[in-house]
Amino acid sequence: MDPLYRELFALVHDDARAPAVRLKDAMAAIQKARPRHQWTGVYVLKGDVLDLAAYVGPETPHARIPIGKGLCGKAVTTRQDLDIGDVNAQPEYLACSIETKSEAIALMWHKGEIVGQIDVDSHTRGDFGADAMRSLATAAHILAPLADEVRVGR
Ligand code: SME
Repeated sequence: MDPLYRELFALVHDDARAPAVRLKDAMAAIQKARPRHQWTGVYVLKGDVLDLAAYVGPETPHARIPIGKGLCGKAVTTRQDLDIGDVNAQPEYLACSIETKSEAIALMWHKGEIVGQIDVDSHTRGDFGADAMRSLATAAHILAPLADEVRVGR
């Protein structure tokens, strides 16, 4: 198994520490495994709003995103992961950094519902692709129960 996934599983099952702290460590682990990426975060879905629960990278002005707004909101309304090779070609795009060129979003599903998403930004155009999306979707799948704990405030 990819050592990253092993680390993520360990964080999900580490009941001794608060879920939000473990989610932050999970974002750091993903970013460390993919050093080319500049921002890695997780939003949890609370009602109609995506709420930034943990991230590594520069601070973002988009800590709360209504569903239907931005690429993050679009992923929820279309119920699809997004691989955006050129963010500036997307009318919905909400910029975190002017240096961001591409972005990947993997939805987190738990008990048949969308509970959140992992969002990754890169300074390189077209930086993701099928393999990166598969890997991000696996990370989102592993971390979904932890994101749900943070979402419901356990
Ligand atoms: N670019 C996202 C907003 C989140 S930032 O990238 C951290 C969007 O368009 O929804």
